[in-house]
Amino acid sequence: MADSNRNFLNAVTRGAAHYTPGEQVNEPGWIKLNTNESPLPPSPNVFRVMAELVGQGDILRKYSHPLGEPLLGALADYWKLSKEHLIVTNGSDEALTLICRATLGPERPAVFPAVTYSLYGTLVTNAGASYTEVPMVERIGQPYGIDIDALAKFDGHAIFLANPNAITGEYTDAAKLAEVIAASNSLWVVDEAYNDFAGPKATMMQYIEKLQNLIVTRTFSKTHALAGLRVGYLASGNRGLIQGLLAHKDSYNEDALATRLAAAALADTAWHERTIRAVLTGREFLRSELTALGFTCFDSEANYILAREPKNLVAPKIVQRLRDYKILVRHYAGSQFADCIRFSVGAEGENAKLIGSLKEILRGA
Ligand SMILES: Cc1ncc(COP(=O)(O)O)c(C=O)c1O
Repeated sequence: MADSNRNFLNAVTRGAAHYTPGEQVNEPGWIKLNTNESPLPPSPNVFRVMAELVGQGDILRKYSHPLGEPLLGALADYWKLSKEHLIVTNGSDEALTLICRATLGPERPAVFPAVTYSLYGTLVTNAGASYTEVPMVERIGQPYGIDIDALAKFDGHAIFLANPNAITGEYTDAAKLAEVIAASNSLWVVDEAYNDFAGPKATMMQYIEKLQNLIVTRTFSKTHALAGLRVGYLASGNRGLIQGLLAHKDSYNEDALATRLAAAALADTAWHERTIRAVLTGREFLRSELTALGFTCFDSEANYILAREPKNLVAPKIVQRLRDYKILVRHYAGSQFADCIRFSVGAEGENAKLIGSLKEILRGA
């Protein structure tokens, strides 16, 4: 019998970095402003298609389409791109995983800003590669600004950039980014999980056919309100790159229901725009109310605001007290953001409840 103390894990796994996702509560009654989900429900079109699928056993009996049809075709039409430039993935996290597996290694390390989506470090390490974190620069409204020129100096590497950036919400201008990428020998991975909140011209999807060293990752988790369904995709105009990425994909990586429901969400552009508008209105409400309460809000083009604690109460205490009101927000204990709180923009009533609760908490401080 094998010795249970024997280590069966390989060297990469033994050094694996673990990512801690935001808390998910199962009880009803909580206001979740901690994981940047959509405050509005998915499009009614999604529920209509869901109802049509009830009883269609064949969809479940058979394997799903290996490339994620009918969503793949719908995405190609939506972006006016060839299907060969797109890969449907199980959330955009899977797109990032495929990219790390297919493009990184000891000979090709990754580079990203020191402040960003912390999953990058995990995925890079778990792909057996190392990474460099480029220091942030302080600028008005954004103490953790991205230094795009410093990133671009890493010639020949794989550079990861969330646009807007996690966890600050800082947006890097797409036209400026396109210039930098055009002059670079690196592979640039632009993670557009929050890009819809930065306006219609903010996306790098417009440069997919021009820039062969660009991959864009996107998700249905935020503006399409489908985080629980796990649907994302990546785009690249580089066919060799796409072929390499496909080699790492599970045969049927996206399920048959998810591809149909996400296609239904994509088709409802009016609902999508309405969701974005509601979030932008909520973001401005939160910004002005949090500022009035003494928080320092950093500039954000995403569906969240990172804010420094007011003078009269420290962030961990505020976060703890908000739990008494059944409100969850994100705190990064032990990090350089220990004095900050990240608030996801909620629905109108949730934002009002948050501000009302904060007023009571701070009044008593
Ligand atoms: C910057 C960033 N990229 C990607 C993701 C992953 O999104 P998905 O739900 O598509 O896996 C997140 C999730 O919050 C994120 O913050």
